[in-house]
Amino acid sequence: MLRYTILTLFPGLVRPWTEEALIAKAIRRGLIRVDVRDIREYTTDKHRQVDDYPYGGGAGMVMRVDVVVRAIEAALPADEVILLSPAGDPFTQRMAEELSQKQHLVLLAGRYEGIDARVEHFVTREVSIGDYVLMGGEVAALAILEATARLVPGVLGDPESHQKDSFSWGLLDYPQYTRPPEFRGLEVPEVLTSGHHARIERWRRERALERTLKRRPDLLKRAPLTAEDLEFLARFDAAEGGDYTDEG
Ligand SMILES: C[S@@+](CC[C@H](N)C(=O)[O-])C[C@H]1O[C@@H](n2cnc3c(N)ncnc32)[C@H](O)[C@@H]1O
Repeated sequence: MLRYTILTLFPGLVRPWTEEALIAKAIRRGLIRVDVRDIREYTTDKHRQVDDYPYGGGAGMVMRVDVVVRAIEAALPADEVILLSPAGDPFTQRMAEELSQKQHLVLLAGRYEGIDARVEHFVTREVSIGDYVLMGGEVAALAILEATARLVPGVLGDPESHQKDSFSWGLLDYPQYTRPPEFRGLEVPEVLTSGHHARIERWRRERALERTLKRRPDLLKRAPLTAEDLEFLARFDAAEGGDYTDEG
């Protein structure tokens, strides 16, 4: 079982996420456990103050290290204590895979101007979900919960369904279609209704290669590619006038 403890000043924002859909189902089935704790519970003064003015002046308030560290320590032991921060390491599918193997993750969501920098001595890593600034770390904590929980065996109905997701095999996912077969003149690619398994697999691989080359050529540098893949990419690139050669 993978356990999560989410430390937040707004438990009411986080808890509903654990009460619906696949996360709720995974909790009910005992595959994951999610404890949401209010950082304010760890204050000791009568005003229950979690933040204070920044030393050196400047705009906004900073979360107090003593309160936050009490919240962290009450959640221990844990394999990882993760501070959500725009200054952290970029969150990737690879990191999600690594974290999904752990037993207890503490996810610490900041608010205001962030947390007193001394908190870094009490966390195992800082993680960012992208190059933009959110109002708080809750959405980032939930992104990590979503991305890791779906990798826990049994959480997804079909164990194969995450193996071919975007990034899992180093490429973006291939395009998916369902009924109706025709919508406003837009038809489902014929090969998908052919019942020819090998042709469908090859078609999907090629669409994934093509999409990745067009949208995220940086990923191709690290993707495990076969000789057939490389041949396809060279042919595709040549047919497009060699536009992608520089990036790919
Ligand atoms: C308004 S932000 C603080 C921004 C901080 N002053 C800075 O520029 O780094 C408040 C909190 O939101 C969370 N947060 C904001 N953007 C994030 C991101 N891209 N990834 C992860 N957490 C983020 C962090 O927990 C942060 O402490």
